[in-house]
Amino acid sequence: MSKPGDYDAVRRDIVAQLKKPDYDDGSAGPVFVRLAWHSAGTYDAETDTGGSNGAGMRYEAEGGDPANAGLQYGRAFLEPVKEKHPWITYSDLWTLAGVVAVRELGGPEVEWKPGRTDLVDDSKVPPRGRLPDGAQGADHLRFIFNRMGFNDQEIVALAGGHNLGRCHTDRSGFEGPWVNNPTRFSNQFYKLLLKLQWTSKTLANGIKQFVYVDPDAEEGDEQLMMLPTDVALITDPKFRVWVEKYAEDKDLFFDHFAKVFAKLVELGIQRDAKGAVVNSDNVKGGYISAPKKSNRPTGTSSRGQGGCPVQAVQGAQGGCPRARL
Ligand code: HEM
Repeated sequence: MSKPGDYDAVRRDIVAQLKKPDYDDGSAGPVFVRLAWHSAGTYDAETDTGGSNGAGMRYEAEGGDPANAGLQYGRAFLEPVKEKHPWITYSDLWTLAGVVAVRELGGPEVEWKPGRTDLVDDSKVPPRGRLPDGAQGADHLRFIFNRMGFNDQEIVALAGGHNLGRCHTDRSGFEGPWVNNPTRFSNQFYKLLLKLQWTSKTLANGIKQFVYVDPDAEEGDEQLMMLPTDVALITDPKFRVWVEKYAEDKDLFFDHFAKVFAKLVELGIQRDAKGAVVNSDNVKGGYISAPKKSNRPTGTSSRGQGGCPVQAVQGAQGGCPRARL
């Protein structure tokens, strides 16, 4: 066990978990970024509820939300890190893993501060329905992200998370990656949004997404995709201005992404002048870190197909087939 408070040791062990040759595109990074984002993206500024403090996804009420389908992989990949550093809270671990993954995959350094505490039961788990629905448009994006306190520029910068990773039919129902190299953080997502012709395609499961039909595609080449919410970033003129800026200027995007991701993982967290978290919601009788519930992640895929067995996921490198359908 490391010395409590040795976050550099935790960072190193998160880095050690990133490489996963048999999982998706070979990296746990994208699912760590999504885990951090979904842990925080439940925040509601008006009621000051939700947010990354609490790590409610350990409970079925939040972990089993179809919007969080697939994040059990990220949580399971981080279990060995929690075991090695039991003093860190899950809420700190999940947000730190997202920040570390962005950096390790070539993105900017995001400021991260520790001190979150974990819920002690599921009574304060935020209601479902607070995360965005990729099938919708610009109004929905503003509705969801304004609730958290983000403006148009911040929405477009945050959406740049889709430079990483992919959609899985057994998780969200959508299918495919946004960019050709989904384990390298860049501004490619914005460039492709503007440059390629995006056409609507209805998948076998009835879900509609946008795809680029590459005339030079060879057999086995994977089609690039965009969600309806991604395409809304170029059809809405106010969003589009920022897509154009970020496509043009990678440094500007990295700078804005670093700021907005840092803001995201701090939503709802109150700190005193010294930076110590003063939220009292999760404290019961001197409680500091949640008791370890189980090594097995809760929550199933949205379509009830478990995909890779948990044992294989936890077996770190081996055994898990590429989670694509
Ligand atoms: C703007 C509204 C957003 C919508 C509608 C949305 C929707 C989605 C959907 C449907 C998936 C596919 C999940 C799957 O099938 O595995 C996904 C994946 C992902 N999202 Fe988003 N997302 C949004 C914002 C964000 C933000 C703000 C970030 C981070 C800054 C982010 C980071 C990711 C990453 C990294 C993945 C890939 C996960 C993986 O490869 O397992 N998304 N998102």
